[in-house]
Amino acid sequence: MLKLRKAKRIGGNVVVPGDKSIAHRAALLSILSRGPITIKNWPGNDDCNRSLAAARQLGVTVTRDENVLILTPPEQPMIAPESIIDCGNSGTTARLLAGLLAGSNVSAILSGDESLSSRPMARVIEPLTAMGADIFATNNRLPIKIAGKKLLPFEYRLQVSSAQVKSALLLAGLSSHCTVTVREDTVTRDHTENMIAALGDGLVVREVKAQYVPDPDDPRKKKSVVSEPFKKEITLTGQAHIDGGEVDIPGDISTAAFFFALAAMSEKTIAVPRVGLNSTRTGILEHLRAIGCQVEVEDRKVISGEPRGNVIVTGGKLKPRRLHGETVVDLIDEIPIVAVMAALADGTTIIRDAGELRHKESDRLATVAENLQRMGIKCGLLEDGLAIEGGKELQGADLKTYGDHRIAMAFAIAAQFAVGPSTLDDESVVGISCPTFFELLHTVAS
Ligand code: S3P
Repeated sequence: MLKLRKAKRIGGNVVVPGDKSIAHRAALLSILSRGPITIKNWPGNDDCNRSLAAARQLGVTVTRDENVLILTPPEQPMIAPESIIDCGNSGTTARLLAGLLAGSNVSAILSGDESLSSRPMARVIEPLTAMGADIFATNNRLPIKIAGKKLLPFEYRLQVSSAQVKSALLLAGLSSHCTVTVREDTVTRDHTENMIAALGDGLVVREVKAQYVPDPDDPRKKKSVVSEPFKKEITLTGQAHIDGGEVDIPGDISTAAFFFALAAMSEKTIAVPRVGLNSTRTGILEHLRAIGCQVEVEDRKVISGEPRGNVIVTGGKLKPRRLHGETVVDLIDEIPIVAVMAALADGTTIIRDAGELRHKESDRLATVAENLQRMGIKCGLLEDGLAIEGGKELQGADLKTYGDHRIAMAFAIAAQFAVGPSTLDDESVVGISCPTFFELLHTVAS
């Protein structure tokens, strides 16, 4: 249990660990690579270490010098793992690996902790099975057994807006050397595509753009038409391959978000250098601007196929906002901290179309609502979102993490603004994405 108090001083610079999503992909792609992959700025958190351990079990040799790793792939075809691959709390490890193994030449069993074993796997099992995969599961939950085999070419329109599902299918195609086309109605994070393009070859991405044609009802006007009902089409060809190379991981914007919120809620300034700025992840920066903060980005560059820059956030008087549709997908992992910031906004924030949050490390709609209510904030739990009445002072409370790293970090930030002391029941859960979170927090809030 950790005791937390209101901060008297807020501001400064904080360097956050490497991006979790990118790190997972670098570790997992090494299993299929032709040559070694050097990873710089490895985040060393529990989740990514699960993908690294899985890669080792599947024959990857890892040499390490602090946070630089060299991953040397196994001889192909792969050698079957000797024991169960334990994905711990990591949904990304489980889902991406399910795809990779389904198209491989080995059999393996994937398991997870209690939380991961209750999260849905049907979203990957169903399309992979349609590709011809042999996957054995009870109630579409972990543990699952995958008997790898040659898969069939496949076209699929995502049923859930999930980068994990998209990536599982692309990795299935990559390991089975068969063509896979995935279509997205809502664009999800594209780190898998960027990494395949940076370290290998064989991926074609087509964005469906609206075209402006004369309006048949009034030819003086133009109307927009879209030729297809989806936004993006990603095709991995049967010749696609990974050669290896270097992945320099930018800072994790989803971790930086907690520190941006400190600035937002205090009207002070916090700067985070070298943060990942992939456009599918920067919804949090747009949100900060929309609620009244000043956000500056300096020194933008693209390294290892991913954009990055130094982000400086200065808080202002916070305004409420209605969040729904694609906007929610672009900041799906940031909703807990968005909800905490909403508590200090002048009015009611409504979040909709966020039903996916019920399937994260905890039911994040429920766990956010419960903790906000514990802090004296009126928060309504909607079927697919939250309604948060802002403008009241946060009260110190006994906060519950439910084993969820982002709930722990979001409410550790909330406690910095609360009247009276708070406690956090299990601070160790931050290790899932940012083991150094509390040390970093201390440098910018005390
Ligand atoms: C992730 C995708 C998202 C996100 C998760 C990481 C990834 O999940 O919430 O934290 O690395 O692909 P979904 O794919 O389920 O939306």
